[in-house]
Amino acid sequence: MLVLGIETSCDETAAAVVRDGREIVSSVLASQIKTHQRFGGIVPEIASREHLDKIVPIISEALERASIRALDVDGIAVTVGPGLVGSLLVGVSYAKAMAFALNKPIIGVNHIEGHIYSVAFENPPLEYPAIALIVSGGHTNVFFIPEPGKYKVVARTRDDAAGEAFDKVARMMGLGYPGGPVIERLAREGDPKAVHFAIPRMGDGLPDFSFSGLKTAVTKYVRESGLQPLQDGEEPSQRIKDLAASFQSVVVRSLVGTTKRIAEDYYPKTLIVAGGVACNGQLKDECRKIAAQLGVPVYFPSPHLATDNAAMIAAAGTVKLMAGERADLNLNADVTLRLQNIDLEEEAAKRAGARYKL
Ligand code: KG4
Ligand code: ZN
Repeated sequence: MLVLGIETSCDETAAAVVRDGREIVSSVLASQIKTHQRFGGIVPEIASREHLDKIVPIISEALERASIRALDVDGIAVTVGPGLVGSLLVGVSYAKAMAFALNKPIIGVNHIEGHIYSVAFENPPLEYPAIALIVSGGHTNVFFIPEPGKYKVVARTRDDAAGEAFDKVARMMGLGYPGGPVIERLAREGDPKAVHFAIPRMGDGLPDFSFSGLKTAVTKYVRESGLQPLQDGEEPSQRIKDLAASFQSVVVRSLVGTTKRIAEDYYPKTLIVAGGVACNGQLKDECRKIAAQLGVPVYFPSPHLATDNAAMIAAAGTVKLMAGERADLNLNADVTLRLQNIDLEEEAAKRAGARYKL
C-alpha cells in the first residue's frame, strides 16, 4: 500500500510517500526555521502563508522523487491536529481536494500519533504493550500503548513542553532558536553539577511533568549571578556552558526518571522515545540505560525522523487505512486534538492475566 503523507501542523511543510507503513519511498520537507529565527519563535500568521507557498511544490517533489503519479497512491494521510490552526488548514484543505479530485481514500492523523510511528522505519516491528515518551516543542507525554492505535496518557506536562523549555532558556541566554541543538552542543563542554536545579514533583502525586518552574529558576539564576546573555558572534563562556549542561541534565533526569517509574508499573515489551527532543544525545544515553535495566528494547527515530516530517504521518495513516478506516470530506483541523484515551480497566478485563496497573 502506497500512502501519501502530508504534514503542516507547525512550521514545516512536509510530504512523503511510504510503502506498507515501513518503507520511506520519498520524504520532502521545507523548513521555515530561517524565517522564524529572527522572531525567536514561530509566528503563526507567517507560518500559514509559507505553507500556502510551499504545499504544491513539496507534494509534487515527493511524488516525483518516488517516481509515481498522484493517481498511483492508495490513500492520503494528513495531520489534522494538534497544531496551529492556519497551518493545519493548509494541509487538510489540500489533502481533501486531492482525495476528491483523485477519488482516493483519506484519513486524518493526530500529530502525536505520527511521532509515535516515527520509529516504525528503522527498527524491528514494534512489540506491544509499549511505553512511548513523546517529547517535542509542543508536547511532553508518556503513553501506555496496549496495542496499536490504543493509548492511555500516563503522564503529561502541566505547563511547558520540554522542547519549549529548551527554546525559552536558549532565548534567555541569547543562544537563538531552536534552543535544543545549541544547548546540547554547549552542554557537552559544561559541568552538569555546576548549578543545582530541582526536579519538580506534583503535589497530587501524579507522575506529571512541569518545566515552567525550571525556566523561572534559570531566569532567577541568570539575574542573580549577573550572567550576560550571549551577544552576536561572541564565544560562549564556561559559565554559559555550565548552565546549559545543568539545565539539560535536570530536564533529562525528569523525563527519564518518570518514564522508568511508569515502565516499572506497566511491564512494556518496547520503549519508544520520539519527538524533536529525542535528538538529544544525553536523553538517548539515559533511556538506553533504563531500557537495559528493564530488559526491553528502546527505539528512537534518527534525527530527520525525530523532528516534524510527513513519513511518520503516512506510517500512522497506513495502519488506519489498512484497518479500513476512512474520513469523509468533512474532515477538519482540530487545534486541540487529543489521542483518544482508553479505559485501562476495560482493556485489562478483555485480556485475562494482563499485567497492567489499574
Ligand atoms: O517535534 P518537533 O520538530 O516539533 C514539534 O512538534 O514541536 O520538535 C522541535 C523541538 C524544539 O523545541 C527543539 O528545541 C527541540 O525539539 N530539539 C531538541 C534537540 N533538537 C531539537 N531538544 C533537545 N536537544 C536536541 N538535540
Ligand atoms: Zn512534532
